[in-house]
Amino acid sequence: MDAGADIHEPCPLPGGPSHVAIIMDGNGRWAQARGRPRLYGHHAGAQRVREIVETCPGLGVKYLTIFAFSTENWKRTQTEVAGLMSLFRRYITKEARALREEGVRVRFIGDRVRLDEKLVTLMDELELMTAGNDLVHLTVAINYGSRDEVTRATKRLAMDVAKGSLEPENVDEETLPRYLDTCVLPDPDLVIRTSGEARISNFLLWQSAYAEYEFIDTLWPDFDSALFARLIRDYGRRDRRFGAVTA
Ligand code: FPP
Repeated sequence: MDAGADIHEPCPLPGGPSHVAIIMDGNGRWAQARGRPRLYGHHAGAQRVREIVETCPGLGVKYLTIFAFSTENWKRTQTEVAGLMSLFRRYITKEARALREEGVRVRFIGDRVRLDEKLVTLMDELELMTAGNDLVHLTVAINYGSRDEVTRATKRLAMDVAKGSLEPENVDEETLPRYLDTCVLPDPDLVIRTSGEARISNFLLWQSAYAEYEFIDTLWPDFDSALFARLIRDYGRRDRRFGAVTA
């Protein structure tokens, strides 16, 4: 082994996905099936996040992006929204040190303007304290919606045109992604949605143009590392052609 190589760096699975994005759905139904309030399901779901993040290096998954709260989720009851925001605050506070020590770089995407100040401060701090990590890049989408993201990106792009730093004729397919929240991330290779719904619900619409999709029946709190590993292996058997024809 190269003496300078990082011993924690995994050998990627041949043909495995480098970037996996997950729509973590089914927490509410999981709780209801147990006669418990919906927030009980969200707490169980939060515990799964740690397990899946820890599995990533061994599977060669370098980037994991998870959908924690959408721009549409504000329509839920005030109790559920407040409970989720409190869960995010507690999760960051509790997990920050372990994430840093395990080599995880955490980023948040979504519009922070509507989030409470205390949560935004915790998000900023966690991004800063893990900024030197590179083993796994965990991106958490909070108050995220693709249409909102593209709208915000377009506004900034238009402002650059207005002030003369961008020429309209130079705008091409590489331009808009530089204004998206995900500008430093590669596009997802695989998008997984749990709970049996076959929808993408406004998640990474631009970025997932060529992604493979897995819609699985398992509810998010039951999604474990063995199932995750199986989906990663199944992905390796897919033939991604990006519109081209292969022999
Ligand atoms: C969808 O299930 C799930 C959410 C809206 C919240 C996702 C949040 C977590 C998994 C927990 C926290 C995450 C972090 C990063 C701490 P649903 O409520 O729509 O389920 P249902 O479709 O069964 O009602």
